[in-house]
Amino acid sequence: NVPIRILAIESSCDETATAVVENGRKLIANVVSTQIEIHKQYGGVFPEVASRQHVLAISTVIEETIRKAHMSVKDFDAIAVTRGPGLAGSLVVGVNAAKGLALATGLPLIGVNHLEGHIYSAWLYPQEEQEIPPVPEFPAVILLVSGGHSEIILMKSHLQYERLGGTLDDAAGEAFDKVARLIGLSYPGGPSIQKAAVLGDPKKFNFPRSRLEGTWDFSFSGLKTAVLRMVRQLEKESGELPVADLAASFQASVVDVLFEKTMMAARKYQAKSVVIAGGVSANQALRDAFKAQKEFSLFIPRLMFCTDNAAMVGAAAYQRFLLNRWDDFDMDVMPTWPL
Ligand code: KG4
Ligand code: ZN
Repeated sequence: NVPIRILAIESSCDETATAVVENGRKLIANVVSTQIEIHKQYGGVFPEVASRQHVLAISTVIEETIRKAHMSVKDFDAIAVTRGPGLAGSLVVGVNAAKGLALATGLPLIGVNHLEGHIYSAWLYPQEEQEIPPVPEFPAVILLVSGGHSEIILMKSHLQYERLGGTLDDAAGEAFDKVARLIGLSYPGGPSIQKAAVLGDPKKFNFPRSRLEGTWDFSFSGLKTAVLRMVRQLEKESGELPVADLAASFQASVVDVLFEKTMMAARKYQAKSVVIAGGVSANQALRDAFKAQKEFSLFIPRLMFCTDNAAMVGAAAYQRFLLNRWDDFDMDVMPTWPL
């Protein structure tokens, strides 16, 4: 029972991150270098700027992680990296760094799907944890909500997914980001809206809840348009925006739809557990909604594992490692890569 330790790299969007994860669960070291401050001025991620920032940061981030893990490169069992989906120019930086490390050490190279990483973030726990937390039981219904994706997934066993549905337009995180901009809040929108919403009335504006009955799909563009109309009307009427109420009412609409649909899917597929993951699963209102139900055993990643990080990549890579699913050195990035 020798522990398997994987060095993982993530660079699909605007975080340069590396981590060391033991047996797919235990976090040994974790470093995330975020570019958020740089992208704020553009109101979103500027792809070319992002890849160049990854180039600047990646070596330092890797070195720092290895130092924090008190290990040397040859002590790892595999090198894992996010291969996609994400920004091509950003993915390339992580993938090439991983290839370099694998080539130098002779260790297996494992390409990981970023979405799979988000799912496996629910398996992670910090090294300091006194008691080892339980893992989700299968079948699990997963709500995966990030800046690029909003999906409901049925996970039947490790690495086996059936996509039940997903967004037809904006991802949930994208809706947060766009609505934040509409009401004058800064990027990334999710945390800004959450913060503003604390002082707001979620019932002040009755924004639409698009339920798309009979499907497991989502749509957030109608909600976004409804907020836009309200903003224009309010600006005409008073010139001043009740930002907190707008934020709270918008957030309530998103949370209601995400929560209700996930619960319906969990009932329909007789899930043994419900998992929520991805950047939007950091949202306190969403977490509270799920925590309040007692029907299903719930797995929510710790906050540090919700938004992009490399630990989740190491967790997913471990499952591939166990099946000898390694990649060759001609592994290319996959900017679009469904689960
Ligand atoms: O998973 P992630 O870091 O990157 C992607 O894979 O997209 O997710 C980023 C998204 C952003 O849209 C951000 O606004 C959203 O997650 N987000 C939140 C919160 N924290 C991050 N949305 C709502 N509430 C939050 N607290
Ligand atoms: Zn992500």
